[in-house]
Order: sequence, then C-alpha cells, then structure tokens
Amino acid sequence: MPLGAVRRLVVEHVDPVLGRCRYVADLGARRIPNPVLVARRGDRFDAVIENRLPQPTTVHFHGLTLAEAQDGAGFDPIAPGESKAFRFEVRNRAGLYWFHPHPHGFTAEQVHAGLAGLLVVTDSEDAALDSSLALAPGNRLALALADARVAGDTLRPYAPTETDCLHGWFGNRALVNGALDARMPVAPGWVRLQLLNASNARGLLLAFREIGRVNERDGANVPFHLLGTDGGLLAAPAAVERVFVYPAERVDIAIDVSGRKEIAAVSLAFDPRHQARGGHLAHPHPAREHYPPLAAEKLCAPGSAGGAAGYLPDGAELALFTLRVAGAAWVAPPLPARISTLSDAVTDAPPRRMRLDFDERTGFLIDQSPYRTDEIAFSVGRGAREIWEIRNSPISMPHPMHLHGFGFRVLRRQGTFGPARGLASESGGRLPTDLGIKDTVVIWPNETVWLAVEFALPGDAAFHGRQRYMFHCHNLEHEDGMMMRNFAVE
Ligand code: C2O
Ligand code: CU
Ligand code: CU
Repeated sequence: MPLGAVRRLVVEHVDPVLGRCRYVADLGARRIPNPVLVARRGDRFDAVIENRLPQPTTVHFHGLTLAEAQDGAGFDPIAPGESKAFRFEVRNRAGLYWFHPHPHGFTAEQVHAGLAGLLVVTDSEDAALDSSLALAPGNRLALALADARVAGDTLRPYAPTETDCLHGWFGNRALVNGALDARMPVAPGWVRLQLLNASNARGLLLAFREIGRVNERDGANVPFHLLGTDGGLLAAPAAVERVFVYPAERVDIAIDVSGRKEIAAVSLAFDPRHQARGGHLAHPHPAREHYPPLAAEKLCAPGSAGGAAGYLPDGAELALFTLRVAGAAWVAPPLPARISTLSDAVTDAPPRRMRLDFDERTGFLIDQSPYRTDEIAFSVGRGAREIWEIRNSPISMPHPMHLHGFGFRVLRRQGTFGPARGLASESGGRLPTDLGIKDTVVIWPNETVWLAVEFALPGDAAFHGRQRYMFHCHNLEHEDGMMMRNFAVE
C-alpha cells in the first residue's frame, strides 16, 4: 500500500501467549495488517503511530536519511498506550528499506515478535530496469526472510538463554513475510526479488536450486544476478551463485526462471566463525524491569545454558522459500549493461578508527565501551566525508554493523578468513555485495573494513541543530546487549 495513504500505524500485541505482534495500517474504513509500503522518491509519510504493546516502542525506518526526531532510534520511545505523530519525506534512492522497533533493551524481542515491515522505494531508474527485464506481473517480489523456532506449526516464544544472548537467537524454520513454507507462483522469464534478512541473528548464504530436474546435477546452484544492495541499484549487474545476506542487509536480484519448474531458495551451510565463547553478559537490560515480556518467558537469565533442541545453529543449511514457475514458454531479454548512474566512491577523506571487541564480563564492545544512552561517542560535521576503518577482533563473531541515517560505500577488506574470503572476487578484497550503497556491513572476525561515509543532511528545517544517530551491531541480541554507540552530526 502507498506510504502516503497511511494515516495511523498501530503496533499491536496480538498473542500474549506466544508473544506475537503486528503492524496494522489503519485507513479508517479498512485495517491492513503487516502492510508492505511502497513509495516513490519524494513521497511523504504523515501518520500517527500508536503503541498498543505492554512495552515502550519506536518505529525506525531503517536506511532512510531522516532527522533525529523522525529516526525512531530509541532516544524518545512511545510509552505503552501512547501515540505520536511522524512526518518525513523519502529522500533516498530507490531500493528496499524497512521499518522495525528500536526501543533499547526491547528491540530483539519486538522484531522477533513479527514487527518488521517492508518499504519499497521506486524511481525512474528502477522503473526503467523493470521494463528492460520485461517483468511479468507478479514476477517482482519484496520479501522479508527471518528464522524462528517452530514446533509442529507453532512458533515458540522468544526466550533466549544466556548463551543465545551471546551468539544470537537462531530458529529452525524460515518465515517469509511472516509465513512458513512460502511458495510463490511466478511466470517464466526474469524474476526480480528484493530480499531483506529480518532475522535477529542468522546470517544467510543465499543460493537457488532447481528441484526435480532430471538432466542437471542434483543440488547445482542456479546462477543469478545481483542488481542492488541496501541503498539501491548497482551501476551494473554482477553475476553470482551465492551471496551473504546478514541481518538487516538487503539484496536486489534477478533470476531467469525460463525453462525451469520449481526453484528453491536456500541458505547454504557455512562456517559462521563464532569464535567468542562463554562469559556473563549484562542481561537482562535494566530498562526491562518496569515492563512485562511479550510472552510469559524469562530473557537471558544468568546461568541459563543454550538449549540444544529446537533450533539450527548459525551457518546450518536452511530452506527459505520456493518459486513455482508456470506459464507459456518465454525467453528472458538480455540484462542491460548499466542499470543505474551510481558513481564511484570518494576515497580520500580523514580516517576514523573503530575496534570491535569481546569482553567476558561485559559482552561485545565498540571501542571498549558498552552502550550508554546519554553518551555521544563522537561528533561529525554536517556534510563531512570520512573514511571509517573498523577492525573486528580475531576472537569474535561476524558483526553486521549498521549506521543510521547515512549510506556508505565499502572500499576495502583486509584479514578476511573463512567463507567470505572465497566470495571476495572484487578489487580490495570486496564481495559483489560490497559494490553498492550499504547501510549495514558484516565485519568478520579478524577483518578490517574501510567505509566511505558522507554525512550529508538535506537543507530542510527538520535537520537544524545537532542530530543524534547510532552505529550498532544488527545482531539484535548484540544490539540489546549494548553493542551500540551514539554519535552526533552538527
Ligand atoms: Cu535496523 Cu538501528 O536499526
Ligand atoms: Cu537503522
Ligand atoms: Cu554483533
């Protein structure tokens, strides 16, 4: 539904036993649960957000460049039973963005409860690509992929042990836009998929396999093309067979399904390099003391061990969804050589260095510091360009690091080991998914990644004065576990 049509967005607690929640777009006459929002660049959002959860919440539009007051980052949550008006203009490039809660200490639980909505932004380049792909109606899909613990067909409530809070909460089944065992009918030709990894913690190594084909080697991957990343289209499509999609990352891909019957999207098995072990983390978060959980469960209780049952560890193979191809034979047109006017990244700017560490007493740290709500870790000038050099410790985990408000470019990776190294086919040790605009980038243990960031704020009145933003790990158990810092643009 159009972003501009939403007048009221209600955050509902629909199942207190299993702890499930949903967003409902209230249009007066109609109520649409879990809407997929669509907007053209330049469209406006002007709505009241109503919190019907028993906990504080916020709505953060992940990837959009917004003023602090519209960013929903958790500085100013909406109390239970309260409402708040939000107004902003979509200034970002066409791409897949998303919205989710961000109240510190409650984020992981609320996102996992089902609060992750999609926002598809379009513009003229995006429309031109669709017409050169000759997309059949129904062959463009926006999908949020997440994992959950499922017993029979029932989702189990979010109840992480201390071990889960260290590694992240992993499920055993995939949900696609909230549904188990998703099967989508598509027509022969190109299929364009805009995919979000909305999992709390699981990294996906996305690949496609044809099911039940006689003449093809069983299990061979179907090649596809990467069209775009978090912040929209690449300059040119890149041919790939598998891509990493870590939590909060998005990929825009084209896959030619002509002459095939059924294609399964899977996350391939890989070694996720969880090197850090043990330790006692500072859980549960003090902010939680005053509010009940969404389901009657204890979170991150000290001394609670990892229950082996009921989930697949990070890096285990996981079935995601199926595309069923039906319709008249069709030959997909060749992909255009250039699909956007994305320019090269700026490479000379003053550096800022950051380190990701693990401490057995306090958990994961950015520059040796856990999150402090009132702290401003550093300030950057309005319009400034910087090169961020982020180094992950060897005894660590892959951390999908997310910057609020500003897209960035990945310039270089160094010290990459493990499964990401094999996919580093681009200059500077980069992966094909590093070629576009990003707002979330996974940094593997022992790796150093260089990012080019530009802190450009539009000249709107809403952006006057100091604006606070966040930089954090989007493994949501790490985020709630304090792996986050505030910074300011002034
Ligand atoms: Cu998607 Cu600070 O989050
Ligand atoms: Cu964000
Ligand atoms: Cu992390």
